[in-house]
Amino acid sequence: MTNKTITIKRPFDSHVHLRRGAVLRAVAKYTAERFGRGIIMPNTEPPIDTVEQALEYRKEILSAVSSYASVLQNTSIDTAKFEPLMTFYLTKKLSPKDIEKGASGDVCKIYAVKSYPYGATTNSQWGYRNILEAKDVLREMENVGMPLLLHGEVHLNANDEEEDPYDGEKMFIADVLPRLLDKYPKLKVSLEHMSSAEAIDFMEKNGAVDKLVTTVTPHHLMYDRRQAFSGGYRALLHCKPLVKTREDKERLLAMVKKGLPFVSAGTDTAPHPESKKFSSCCAFGVFNSPVALELYTQVFDELGCLDKLEGFLSVNGPRFFGLEPLTATITLVKEDWQVTEPVVTEEGVKIWSLCHKDHGLGNEVIHWKIKSGS
Ligand code: NCD
Ligand code: ZN
Repeated sequence: MTNKTITIKRPFDSHVHLRRGAVLRAVAKYTAERFGRGIIMPNTEPPIDTVEQALEYRKEILSAVSSYASVLQNTSIDTAKFEPLMTFYLTKKLSPKDIEKGASGDVCKIYAVKSYPYGATTNSQWGYRNILEAKDVLREMENVGMPLLLHGEVHLNANDEEEDPYDGEKMFIADVLPRLLDKYPKLKVSLEHMSSAEAIDFMEKNGAVDKLVTTVTPHHLMYDRRQAFSGGYRALLHCKPLVKTREDKERLLAMVKKGLPFVSAGTDTAPHPESKKFSSCCAFGVFNSPVALELYTQVFDELGCLDKLEGFLSVNGPRFFGLEPLTATITLVKEDWQVTEPVVTEEGVKIWSLCHKDHGLGNEVIHWKIKSGS
């Protein structure tokens, strides 16, 4: 490592939405050139909740990543080496038998189950209103050691009224998470995309390698709601959990700077077609894969803790899923660049990345760039 370049083991994305069909084929390369492996989110339409569907989806991803020219951005990175690690959506249909099948890996290895609170975010209509109702599935996951990935927000109250979306994570931490951990003491749990001081307090107190971990996105590290509302509402930053206050963001930065072994990178890259992103009812999700690794590096550089980057990006994530870090590497160089184009699907649909220069969120110039990889 010098002031100008850094080489780390190939990163692991603990939380990535790749979608299906034309969108998948357009976006997957941005993840595959930056990350060696990714935990693939199951909130597709229909959701992934059988090993057969997971297998079919895995094949679709592998076919997409192997279809790109192997040399991207003039690097030697081969996207075909990307390994998608599949998950189940915690739908009402998911049964203990599915967990058993997924854990065995006979048809398709399932690495985790993702819970979405009903109605809270994109394609969450198949989720439970109250995760504690999924008793038999949670018990079986505890038995076989399959991790539960939490979208940790309370969305609806007992009368089915929406809670304040800025308070959803805080409420989940205060109420639901302690009960869940109490009831299933051996369950492996990851609190995804943490965004609030309350979540940080909880994790700093209770986080434990292999047991209770958390993931952090680049956008929650870089933005707060002042930017989300600057000059009108910024659709590219609209996601769940919402980006929060400056204080919440500063607490997140201070936490990653500590290099805690139970904190890892989960980009939550979540592409949406332009028509959905810029509609009056703007879709939740930040498409950040074209810039995610670069932004994490930039944040760690600005914090003066580039020595903690490899643990956060490449070691802590796989460890939670029982995997070794990769031996292949990626090298980034300190060099300014901009995102000047949208990603366009084969059907001509545009998908706008975070930091695109024309959508001016205040960080259009990115200070780190991928140089090479093995
Ligand atoms: C995600 C999506 O679009 O699939 N959106 C988001 O805002 N993060 C779903 C999710 O992870 O909440
Ligand atoms: Zn997500």
